[in-house]
Amino acid sequence: MGIGILTSGGDCAGMNPAIRKFVDICFENKVEPYLIYDGLEGMIDGKIKKASKKDVSGIIHRGGTIIRSSRSKRFFEKVYREEAYNQLKSKGINSIVILGGDGSFRALKQFYDDFGIRFVGIPATIDNDIHLTEYCLGVDTALNVIRSAIDNIRDTASSFKRAFVVEVMGRECGYLAIVSAITSGAEICLVPEMEYNLNSIKYRLNSEIKEGRGYILAIVAEGVNKTQFLKDWIEKELGMDARVSVLGHIQRGGNPTVYDRLMGFEFASKALDALLNRNVQNGVVVYREGRFFIETIEDVVSGKYKIKRELLNLAKKMSGNT
Ligand code: F6P
Repeated sequence: MGIGILTSGGDCAGMNPAIRKFVDICFENKVEPYLIYDGLEGMIDGKIKKASKKDVSGIIHRGGTIIRSSRSKRFFEKVYREEAYNQLKSKGINSIVILGGDGSFRALKQFYDDFGIRFVGIPATIDNDIHLTEYCLGVDTALNVIRSAIDNIRDTASSFKRAFVVEVMGRECGYLAIVSAITSGAEICLVPEMEYNLNSIKYRLNSEIKEGRGYILAIVAEGVNKTQFLKDWIEKELGMDARVSVLGHIQRGGNPTVYDRLMGFEFASKALDALLNRNVQNGVVVYREGRFFIETIEDVVSGKYKIKRELLNLAKKMSGNT
């Protein structure tokens, strides 16, 4: 029996530790581990290799994913899913561990319905936007990359008495922005999950500027789509020279933090436990309140991730909600 592993969608730190653990556990259980390169695209094209210890040595500290990733359009078509199925069959692979977001889980659920290939998903995306899990692999590393970037930006902002509008990733989810804003002590934070009140922000910051405030840090989630608008608003309404810094893909890179290495190991071992010992047909490993669970794909993809009320409360003032 063979089990494949693939990484799909946006890469993130922690994928390599998970791949390493996956291979180790397969060997311990005398199961053949297969590395599927280039995500779902590679599965269609048969870029599949039986893993050796050597393939996964010296990878734990590396960011990204050594088996690469893709966003596959072809996999939406049954004819290509059938090609992927034939590729797996020719190697004797009957189940899969997939690291990615809910779009990837949906794709594999369709694959399971078509051909009965069992799979378990591991939430892996810096966006932290997957329903029923408090944590997705890669988030801690991304937050630390953002923290370091904001620390640097603060140096130049304070040297020049400037405002900086820092745009962070997250798609429709404001988790990265809100946690970064709170932990950097930002003055402004705009996220899709919260209404904002510019009048109240203006009132507060103008009086702080009068009292000597020298610079401003504003953290904006990409999903709000207000980065340039906010820069112009600050210049006009607060009278402070402002710059925009879009952090972009640096947020996806970097060596995995200790937390992401540990979580990579844990997610991988829970996923394999589900496939090897619990006869799970398809599901997602989730993490809540310090414990791991397996949830059904239907439950995971049917809802929207919600940022905890406590976190939103901590950021209220930064959005002008008093
Ligand atoms: O989903 C992860 C993510 O990094 C998002 O935060 C971002 O919007 C998107 O991927 C960027 O996608 P791409 O790498 O295709 O430009």
